[in-house]
Amino acid sequence: MMSAAVAHSNIALAKYWGKLPREGNFPAVPSLSVTLGALKTITRVGFDARLTEDRVSIDGKVASGRSRDRVVRVLDELRAIAGRSCRAEVDSHNEFPTGAGLASSASGFAALALAGQAALGLDLTREEVSRIARRASASAARSLFGGYVELLPGAEAARALAPPNWLDLVVLIVITSSAPKATSSTQGMLLTQATSPYYRAWLDAASEVFAEARRALMARDFAALGAATEHSMLLMHASALAARPAVCYLTDASWRVVACVDRLRAAGVLAFSTLDAGPNVKVLVRSEDAPRTAEVIERIGGVERVIVSQAGPEACLVD
Ligand code: PMV
Repeated sequence: MMSAAVAHSNIALAKYWGKLPREGNFPAVPSLSVTLGALKTITRVGFDARLTEDRVSIDGKVASGRSRDRVVRVLDELRAIAGRSCRAEVDSHNEFPTGAGLASSASGFAALALAGQAALGLDLTREEVSRIARRASASAARSLFGGYVELLPGAEAARALAPPNWLDLVVLIVITSSAPKATSSTQGMLLTQATSPYYRAWLDAASEVFAEARRALMARDFAALGAATEHSMLLMHASALAARPAVCYLTDASWRVVACVDRLRAAGVLAFSTLDAGPNVKVLVRSEDAPRTAEVIERIGGVERVIVSQAGPEACLVD
């Protein structure tokens, strides 16, 4: 049987960086994200007794090596739950550039877990699907849900905190480069954990800034949420920069965007920047400020384009 699912990417407002020292891919710190309506992945999964091995294609290209292995691990987990052994054909399409810090792994693994379990005739709870996605990529656990989502350290699954329309918030996704990143998020966080003298400080600060962001979100306080978001990003990247060798995801163009957002704020526009493990900046603004902020940012050297996104819906099965 064949099933398809759509999931949207997410951007962490309070970041996850670092893993608990135990099996199962559990984050070391709590995180809070907003699902991005504009960044969508559709994944089709079909199990077929005639196949001799899993066949995985991402954006029309046959996947091999680590990216295929990660998909196969999810399929293995689903097969174990279903008590089946047949191989699968997986076909995943991102409606945005992959591997450029736009968290295609989050939407990809969320859609894979959701479509995969349906293709095996399972009817798992959303929590169970989130748990399976988390084991492949912790941020993927959050992409099963729409709106604002949290993932706590040691928790099996992410949890929805507020629906997409909870806040007047627009995310400007600033594409500064479509090139694949040099250091994956897993490599980057493990190196930070092993070598950065700031990692311990990050662990404490991350929990505090998460609590601040969560409070601001629940109070619908855009300015306080934006300030906590930007601070969380700077804390995370500071800890990564202090690793040996340094883990640096920001390029010249990324810094120019962050500096421009700072200037806009000084001029009275409520805008805040954040970046995950890649060079693209996401800028949080209110809807009334989105068009002119996007216009200013599009003129910055090194900016290729700006995608305007609202908070997105939960992942779902499609025909
Ligand atoms: O889920 P992973 O293993 O790809 O790591 C995600 C790490 C960040 O995107 C930088 C932060 C986050 O909370 O999404």
